[in-house]
Amino acid sequence: MSAKKITPWVVGNWKMNPQQQKVTEWISQFDTALNNSPIDEQKCHLGIAPTALALSELKAHKFNRNVHAVAQDVSRFSGTGAFTGEMSAELLKDYQIDYVLIGHSERRELLNDNIDVLKAKLKSALSAGITVIYCVGETLQQREDGQAEQIVLQQICDIASTVGETQWAQILVAYEPIWAIGTGKTASPEDAQAMHEKIRAGLKQLTSQDIPLLYGGSVKPENAVDLATCPDINGALVGGASLQADSFYKIAAAFAEN
Ligand code: PGA
Repeated sequence: MSAKKITPWVVGNWKMNPQQQKVTEWISQFDTALNNSPIDEQKCHLGIAPTALALSELKAHKFNRNVHAVAQDVSRFSGTGAFTGEMSAELLKDYQIDYVLIGHSERRELLNDNIDVLKAKLKSALSAGITVIYCVGETLQQREDGQAEQIVLQQICDIASTVGETQWAQILVAYEPIWAIGTGKTASPEDAQAMHEKIRAGLKQLTSQDIPLLYGGSVKPENAVDLATCPDINGALVGGASLQADSFYKIAAAFAEN
């Protein structure tokens, strides 16, 4: 049940990095890499989720192709109003930011994004016309207890009632086993493929849309080709390695070519 016709997505998640000067350098280096050796838009979509501070700089830069600016978070409150520190989906849209990460394990664990909060954020983003990269993944303990599949499929089911049939076209799913994030340990391509196959089957129960399934967790140039050749892996959500323009470029090229 593979879906290789789905154009892959390679998205960098910069988390709470880096300083302003590094952002400017990164943009210039990535721009040069793309000019030296273009990556065809039809072969791979690209996105970067910088801090909110750097969204405008990234957005303003004209690369020789789309490099989508992705917000790392969105408010659960809609529109405008007295919500200090918040950034609504409508405001993101107004600033032409069309993508957002929702459900990242760091936000679930450290920033109180429980399922009710996630659903409110999701609802708000989808109604504003923003495409959501919805992150799922199990802890090491859950994997060792043989619960990985059940946990991940539950995380998918959690959002089912919030997403209308046509809105599934605005969803990408990123499978990020928590034990592989920032640890240098990647799920083996076989394990990642096996989980992606299960997620794909689970999603088929909910929608007829072909949802891009990204893998995340210590993706680097060294393992990108093996991951990219798996039939149900349609891209990568890249943390640490996306902070170096050349590493991110190599990962993107691996997905574009495989
Ligand atoms: P990592 O992070 O690539 O540094 O493991 C991935 C993520 O958290 O999205």
